[in-house]
Amino acid sequence: SKLEVKLNNMLQFASEQEVMSYREKINLCQKQIEEKSGKGNDFLGWVNLPAEITEEQLKSVEKVAAELRGKSEIVVVVGIGGSYLGAKAVIEALGNSFSMLNDNGTKVLFAGNSICEDYHAELLKVLDKHSYSIVVISKSGTTTEPAIAFRLLKQHLESKVGKSEAASRIVAITDQSKGALRKLADTEGYRTFIIPDDVGGRYSVLTPVGLLPIAIAGFDIRKMVEGARKAMSDTAANVPFEQNPACQYAAARNALYAKGKKVEIMVNYTPKLHYVTEWWKQLYGESEGKENKGIFPAGVDFTTDLHSMGQYIQEGERFIFETVLSVSNSSNKLTIPEDPDNLDQLNYIAGKRLSEVNHMAKLGTIVAHNDGGVPNIQISIPELSEYWIGYLLYFFERACAISGYTIDVNPFDQPGVEAYKKNMFALLGKPGFEEQGAELRKRLGI
Ligand code: PA5
Repeated sequence: SKLEVKLNNMLQFASEQEVMSYREKINLCQKQIEEKSGKGNDFLGWVNLPAEITEEQLKSVEKVAAELRGKSEIVVVVGIGGSYLGAKAVIEALGNSFSMLNDNGTKVLFAGNSICEDYHAELLKVLDKHSYSIVVISKSGTTTEPAIAFRLLKQHLESKVGKSEAASRIVAITDQSKGALRKLADTEGYRTFIIPDDVGGRYSVLTPVGLLPIAIAGFDIRKMVEGARKAMSDTAANVPFEQNPACQYAAARNALYAKGKKVEIMVNYTPKLHYVTEWWKQLYGESEGKENKGIFPAGVDFTTDLHSMGQYIQEGERFIFETVLSVSNSSNKLTIPEDPDNLDQLNYIAGKRLSEVNHMAKLGTIVAHNDGGVPNIQISIPELSEYWIGYLLYFFERACAISGYTIDVNPFDQPGVEAYKKNMFALLGKPGFEEQGAELRKRLGI
């Protein structure tokens, strides 16, 4: 069993030759990744991360996870962007869809990924009634959204259990020496985990940023790392282009981009993968969207979105391609029952598993969308398990770095995310931003 990348439903839009034409360039990109000689080469710590994680590091994550689980009904994970989406994606993909209704087991909730007043007020009300701990994650230690949420939660927890007990229930994941969160954690005596300098937020799921919340949610992080290790060797520079799934995916999407397909829609057929798509969107959007270049990453959840976005995909502007991410085997078995009355006229599929029906929906859609002018790349993994999620996430990271280098951008920076922050600070009256604040108010007419 393996992760497969299939290109046969895109080759009528960009030929095999056109995909192959990326071989030389991509082989060079692969070399640059491994030799650390390309753009942003001080942010390549994620490349060997799966192999470099030590037994000691895994043990210390597991130990803190077990301790927090032992004393908390809820663990609130505070973070945004790369300090949020990896853990959220894995927990949603592997967890029971209705785990919120289970009485036993620690629940992982998220905060600080928005500034929504209602969300945070409702969360604090829930926390009034439950024992809880906090994992606060910020590499820079200065991001506004998680900082606001953490200030609220810290005060709530301290008034609930006292300052010293609160300190034992708070774990910070941040830079080893820089940033406000590091200073706060050291002053308050919180336990901390370090985000390595050379691993950017969106590539950090295999550091404690992802591993601690995932372990708290009850999943086996060792299996996840094992899967990522296998992906690391399967996508390495010494694996030839034709057999290397990351090279194939990077080449195919760039061949389509060159044909004017500027939007890539990640398609799934299970709502469990919704947040894997969100994670992927951040990874690719933030890595490639710069210098007026880059494929715009979008996402849909099928079959539900076939009843909404399906119309556009079938017949709207022809600047899109799809990447269909599927899981070959379901963990549960459910067959459609026979009904003697057959009033709903479904007996023709009685006895079939839902996964088979879902599979046919997928195949039918691929052909329909091809007929409508939409190329489809297909990626499949055997099952939703820790091992295969670890594999998949590393595969996407590797393909993203290759793809970013292919269009000659630095896939590891994000200069564009600063623009809104400056304006927000100015409008909120942050000291030092007075002049910009006045100018912005004029432009906004407020
Ligand atoms: O990928 C990135 O670098 C960003 O999305 C960051 O993860 C996000 O902005 C949060 O940053 P920080 O962890 O510094 O709070």
